[in-house]
Formats: sequence, C-alpha cells, structure tokens
Amino acid sequence: MSAVVVSSVTKIFNKGRPDEVAALSDVDLTVGDGEFVSLIGPSGCGKSTLLRLIADLIPPTTGTVTVAGKGAGKARKEQAYGIAFQQAGLFEWRTVLRNVELPLELRGTAKAERRARAEQMLALVGLADFAGHYPAQLSGGMQQRVAIARALAVQPPLLLMDEPFGALDEMTRERLQSELLGICAKTGTSTVFVTHSISEAVFLSDRVVVMSARPGRITASITVDLPSRDDAGRQSPAFFDKITEVRQALRGTPVKAAP
Ligand SMILES: Nc1ncnc2c1ncn2[C@@H]1O[C@H](COP(=O)(O)OP(=O)(O)OP(=O)(O)O)[C@@H](O)[C@H]1O
Ligand SMILES: [Mg+2]
Repeated sequence: MSAVVVSSVTKIFNKGRPDEVAALSDVDLTVGDGEFVSLIGPSGCGKSTLLRLIADLIPPTTGTVTVAGKGAGKARKEQAYGIAFQQAGLFEWRTVLRNVELPLELRGTAKAERRARAEQMLALVGLADFAGHYPAQLSGGMQQRVAIARALAVQPPLLLMDEPFGALDEMTRERLQSELLGICAKTGTSTVFVTHSISEAVFLSDRVVVMSARPGRITASITVDLPSRDDAGRQSPAFFDKITEVRQALRGTPVKAAP
C-alpha cells in the first residue's frame, strides 16, 4: 500500500475574496512504502501547503489525500505520521526527554513505556546525554535533532519534514542528513521532505519531485539511484549528474511574476 496518495489536489486560499491565492493546481503525488521523496521548488510554490494538506492541518479545495489507505483526517487522529518543521518548536519549560515524550503522552502511552521510547529515540539522534537539559541549553542543531526524535517517537510510518535542516551549518546539516537516513532505514519510515537545497534533496531521496511557481504544480519527478548514501556517494558521478538534472528541471520551471 502507498504511504501517501495525493490525487487531483487543488488548493485555493481565501476563495472568492480579493486576496484569493491559487497555491496548488492539480497535484498528483504518490509516495511508496518506505520511500524518501523530496519536494523542491521556488519560494511560494506551495511545498509547505502540500505538506500541510498531507498532515490534514488544512483541507484541499478539491481532490483527495490518503495516508496509508485512510483519509488524511483519520490518519492524523491515529497519529500515522510525525511532523518536523523548520523551527524545532520545542516547549521551553519541558526537558528534552519530556519534549520527546509529549506525543506519546497525548496518545495515552503508559509512563514507563513512553520514557523508554523517548530515551531510545534520543539515543538514535545522539542526544542520550542531554535528556535532562532544557531546550535553551542546546544548540540549534541539537534542538532540531530533538524535534526529529519527537517526530519519530510514535514510530510513525510516515515522516513529514519541512526544511528541518534549513538553519544549520553545512557540516551539521550533512551529519544530520546521514543520521536521518540511518533512522529511516532502521524504522522503515516513508518520508516527504521539503528543502531548498538541490544537493540535500539528491543525497537523501529515492525521488526528487520538482514543483513550478504559483500555482504550484509538479513538473518533474526524478528518480535518484546513488551507489551509496555516504561521502563516497556524495562524490560519485551519479550524484553530480542528478544535481544537474534537478537544476535543469528547476530552470525549466516557468516563473510567474508575483501579483
Ligand atoms: N494560510 C494561508 N492563507 C493564504 N495564503 C496562504 C496561506 N498559506 C500559504 N499561502 C500562500 O500559498 C502560496 C504557497 O505557500 P507555501 O507556504 O506553501 O510556499 P512554499 O513553497 O512552502 O514556500 P517557501 O519555500 O518560501 O517556504 C503562497 O503564495 C502563500 O502566500
Ligand atoms: Mg515553505
């Protein structure tokens, strides 16, 4: 079964009002089980909107979204996915451990079990020693990793990530990319990942989906097959070929002037 099926989705904000915005037009996207798909496209083309539709944070104007064969609303209630956004969005008054425990608390998981799970997820992102710290005591990259651990805590079959590494330095970012791939491989998670970085998209993804400027539509879907997802993979001819292919697909995008 597919992790996500977005079918003929259109999203118009403020329909019928002077400030009406057509954010997405006729989008079809299928994410396979265990597949890692990146969304890339110019600012304002509707990447976050598409992610929010999949997460059922907003409804589509027309079309349908299913997550693991269920309507997006049902999937949200069942916590079928974890979300990590660009801002880590941690609760300052909760320790790192209790931030990661939060989605399990909301789910009604017993205390011992949620503690064990949160500790396990923190170990996975390399932050076992910081469980008792507060977010303000961590660096930005560490906070991002806490947010990723929190998104993974309910062991969601689907992970939705909106520029989660956007604010990080290149080295931290590369390290977190590798960690994320390791986590996804370990947990069999399907992922939809929004990024502005072509190299990040190519390195992480089984498939890079290219979107055009507003109203956003999918203009290319580029399958990525690297010899390995490590430093050797980053230096492989296949890596550079795919970067060129994605760049050309982005350039082919007709850019409309902002209203
Ligand atoms: N809640 C909203 N109400 C009205 N318009 C919105 C709303 N959310 C997004 N939009 C509009 O929809 C379009 C797509 O926005 P979206 O945030 O999805 O873009 P994006 O591709 O994520 O851009 P960026 O790369 O800059 O994050 C934009 O024109 C934006 O102004
Ligand atoms: Mg966005």
